[in-house]
Amino acid sequence: MSFNTFGHLFRVTTFGESHGPAIGCVVDGCPPRIPLTEADIQPYLDKRRPGQSRFTTQRQEPDAVKILSGVFIDEASGQRVTTGTPIALLIENVDQRSKDYSDIKDKYRPGHADYTYDVKYGLRDYGGGGRQSARETATRVAAGAIARKIVPGLTVRGALVQMGPHRIDRARWDWAEVERNAFFCPDAERAKFYADYLDGVRKAGSSIGAVIEVVAEGVPAGLGAPIYGKLDGDLAAALMSINAVKGVEIGAGFGAAELSGEDNGDEMRLGNDGKPRFLSNNAGGILGGISSGQPVVARFAVKPTSSILTPRRTVDRYGRETEISTKGRHDPCVGIRAVPIGEAMVACVIADHYLRQRGQVGDTPSWPLPKRTER
Ligand SMILES: Cc1cc2nc3c(=O)[nH]c(=O)nc-3n(C[C@H](O)[C@H](O)[C@H](O)COP(=O)(O)O)c2cc1C
Repeated sequence: MSFNTFGHLFRVTTFGESHGPAIGCVVDGCPPRIPLTEADIQPYLDKRRPGQSRFTTQRQEPDAVKILSGVFIDEASGQRVTTGTPIALLIENVDQRSKDYSDIKDKYRPGHADYTYDVKYGLRDYGGGGRQSARETATRVAAGAIARKIVPGLTVRGALVQMGPHRIDRARWDWAEVERNAFFCPDAERAKFYADYLDGVRKAGSSIGAVIEVVAEGVPAGLGAPIYGKLDGDLAAALMSINAVKGVEIGAGFGAAELSGEDNGDEMRLGNDGKPRFLSNNAGGILGGISSGQPVVARFAVKPTSSILTPRRTVDRYGRETEISTKGRHDPCVGIRAVPIGEAMVACVIADHYLRQRGQVGDTPSWPLPKRTER
């Protein structure tokens, strides 16, 4: 009845509230003998950390991760490695300010989950939002750092490709640029535009949505299980589980509906290495729920932040009509910090499917397949 766990063989259980003493997760199923220290995880948490620019919430959380279990010094290498037992990760909350939330204690923020938590449980943690809050997603980012170490040669990178109605110019896509601007945007010119645009949104007491694209390279062919364990199905569920995500696309996504069969189907040729080469990637690296060996491409839409300064009409938990204006510290565009979260969720799903494939099939068959013998 309590759904705080995801994954099958690479299994992540998260715990903790936004304004409690700490948040954390237990990663179960990680194979043994993988080198792992806090330094492998911290850079990913630093990417998601709040308070790093004027474009994100000013809550100051160092998000310093501690590994509590599941690692041991390997005598042969002298390195700290995973043992195959549950890895518990802890991140302390240090900058809670629950009084910011006292004004909205009884009122429901339009667009937020205040009403649904109340109507489901009969109470809600209004001080910081409890597990409604995206603070919990820091723990998934930590789990994602471990997931990245499981699949040899895997690279998972995310980028913000649209803010409000303003898309990037894909011809200017530069992955190096993602590290250089506050928006994780691969288009340097668009990033400059976003700075002014988002300043305007913030100053107007408003907020705006975004679209994030995550690309996983080095995904071996064969991951994903028909029919109810499809790789794209699991990616969609994982990305949709991120706070404020309202849509997920794989490859050409909704755009595929506008294409003809000739334009959509990724034609195949043989590469110099004798392996199949696809001439396009509308499938987003997944066919029949199984990875093709092409980059896995997923996009997700993040809605605008619900907590805004602009007064909005609402009701309170005692059945009275009222107005609400949310002060406190909130991101004007939560899509920005959703980039490392999306990357982490994709890494966790791929690691899980990699272990499932190893468990069921073992070594994938070598391709091309041997000729069928005549009967
Ligand atoms: C990184 C991140 C930070 C967020 N911060 C806020 C915030 O400061 N204020 C807010 O109203 N919503 C914020 N959200 C979104 C809410 O957590 C989310 O809208 C809410 O839990 C309701 O869930 P739903 O939008 O998925 O239906 C954030 C989301 C993400 C991904």
